[in-house]
Amino acid sequence: MATTIALITGANKGIGFETARQLGARGVTVLAGARDETRGRQAERALRDALGGGAEARFVPLDVRDAKSAQEAAGWIEREYGRLDILVNNAGIAIRGGPPSETDLDAMREVYETNVFGVILVTNVMLPLLRRAPAARIVNVSSEVGSIASMTDPASPLAQMPAGLAYPSSKSALNMITAMYAKELRDTPIKVNAANPGYTATDLNGHSGFRSVAEGAEASVYLATLPADGPSGILWGHLWTAGGPGDAYGPLPW
Ligand SMILES: NC(=O)c1ccc[n+]([C@@H]2O[C@H](COP(=O)([O-])OP(=O)(O)OC[C@H]3O[C@@H](n4cnc5c(N)ncnc54)[C@H](OP(=O)(O)O)[C@@H]3O)[C@@H](O)[C@H]2O)c1
Repeated sequence: MATTIALITGANKGIGFETARQLGARGVTVLAGARDETRGRQAERALRDALGGGAEARFVPLDVRDAKSAQEAAGWIEREYGRLDILVNNAGIAIRGGPPSETDLDAMREVYETNVFGVILVTNVMLPLLRRAPAARIVNVSSEVGSIASMTDPASPLAQMPAGLAYPSSKSALNMITAMYAKELRDTPIKVNAANPGYTATDLNGHSGFRSVAEGAEASVYLATLPADGPSGILWGHLWTAGGPGDAYGPLPW
C-alpha cells in the first residue's frame, strides 16, 4: 500500500513538531513545513532521529503568509509524491493586543494574516493535491478560545480570561472557515475539521500551558487519521472546563 503523505505547517517546533513526530511514528511520511531554512533543517534532523528511520521526514520551506512560497511547496510535493493525503494547518501566532477598546488594528491584521488568511492560502494551493488522494484529511489547528460558546459560558474558566480580540477572534474565524470548507467538500471523501490542542506549554504562551505537547498534538493526529465514517466539520480536542484542566476530550461546542 502507498505511504500516507502529510504536510504540517509550522512544524519546526511546539505542537506542529510533535504532530509530525506522532504521525511519523504511525508510519506516515511527514513533510515538515517551516518558514526558516535553519529551523526547518534542524526539525528535519530531529524528526529523523526521533523516528529512527521508521518513516520519512522532510523539511519543506513554507511561509504560510507568502503565496509564492506556498505555490513552490505545492509544486515540490506534486513532483515528489503527486498527491497529498493530510494537511495540518498548524502554523499560528498570538499577540496580546490589550482589551477590545484599545485594540491596535495592525495587531489584528498581523494575527489574521497568519491564523486566518494563511490557512486559506495554503488550503487552496494544496487542494488540487488533496483531491488526488483517495481520502484526504484537512486539520485546522484552532483553539478553545475561539469557541464563542465556551468563552461566554459563565461556568467555564475560559470566561474568566481577560477580554481580547486578535487571537480569539482569529480562531473563531478559523472555526467558521473549517465549517465552510467541510460544507463545500461534503460530497467528496475529504474531511475538514478543527483541532483544539488545549492550553499547551509552548513558546506561544511562554510555556505557561498546563498540557504537554504530546497531549496538544493528540487532537490533530486524531483528526488527521479519521476513518471513512469519521466526522467532518467539527471542533475536537481538549477543553478546559470547570471540572479541572484535564477533564474534557472530544467534540467541542463552536
Ligand atoms: N500552545 C497552546 O496553548 C495552544 C492552544 C490552542 C491552539 N494553539 C495553536 O496551535 C498551533 C501551534 O502553536 P504552538 O503552541 O505550537 O506555538 P509555537 O511553539 O509558537 O509554534 C508555532 C509554529 O508556527 C510557525 N509559524 C508562525 N508563523 C508562520 C508563518 N508565517 N509561516 C510558517 N510557519 C509559521 C512557527 O515558526 P517559527 O519558529 O519560524 O516562528 C512555529 O513553528 C497554533 O495554531 C496555535 O494557535 C496553541
